[in-house]
Amino acid sequence: MSRIPVHVAFIMDGNGRWAQVRGLPRHEGHRRGAAVVKKILRIAEKNGIKYATFFAFSSENFSRPESEVSFLMNLFERFLKKYSKTLWEKEVRFRAIGNLSQLPINLQFAIEKLIQSTTCFDKFHLTIALNYGARSEVIHAIGNLLKNENVSVENLTWEDFKQYLYTKDLPDPDLIIRTSGEQRLSNFLLLQSAYAELYFTKTYWPDFNEKEFLLAIEDYGTRERRMGKINDKTND
Ligand code: FPP
Repeated sequence: MSRIPVHVAFIMDGNGRWAQVRGLPRHEGHRRGAAVVKKILRIAEKNGIKYATFFAFSSENFSRPESEVSFLMNLFERFLKKYSKTLWEKEVRFRAIGNLSQLPINLQFAIEKLIQSTTCFDKFHLTIALNYGARSEVIHAIGNLLKNENVSVENLTWEDFKQYLYTKDLPDPDLIIRTSGEQRLSNFLLLQSAYAELYFTKTYWPDFNEKEFLLAIEDYGTRERRMGKINDKTND
């Protein structure tokens, strides 16, 4: 396998459509989607990826029907509780990004417990974005920055500012994969993805599998990442 991304982030889209084309309720798509997260984590680890981040619930998703929102919140809580043993065994550090204080209290407890009990791990890093939106993240960051009297705005660097983002101790994503055919970032990690490679597939998230994931990694390996600099070959 060629060059491997350090950090891969996923926009897991198409659960609803996956269910709809099969005549199933939307929640079946979400349930199946959660199983795919576990499979993808195993493949990521196996292939030497170090960080995986999943966009599980956007701030805008709160405007979905109450029954779908509560199904998803329960699914997240059950997922974290059931999966925690595996995370401890595999020494995976867990993080959650987003405005967590608006989530149901039981889910907040489950998140906090997993965050605290995995801080010592470094083998692999799993992050789940819940009630996350990049614009709100920036507003939240600026609010905290302004509370810090020692900050000098004139000399502020990106490195300083990034300490106020939810992702402060994560490397920027190298590769962002979005399923279901939509080709946009939808308010996900907008600043962090400044130099990320983007990969879009028409496959709905519940059908996303090892073959598709390896194709995305292979495609990433062919990308020339200049990060705003001049390519050496152009200088030749
Ligand atoms: C987008 O598909 C998906 C979501 C809003 C939920 C994502 C959640 C999961 C994959 C389940 C579990 C995740 C974890 C981390 C346990 P959609 O419902 O917008 O699909 P549609 O666009 O086809 O309607």
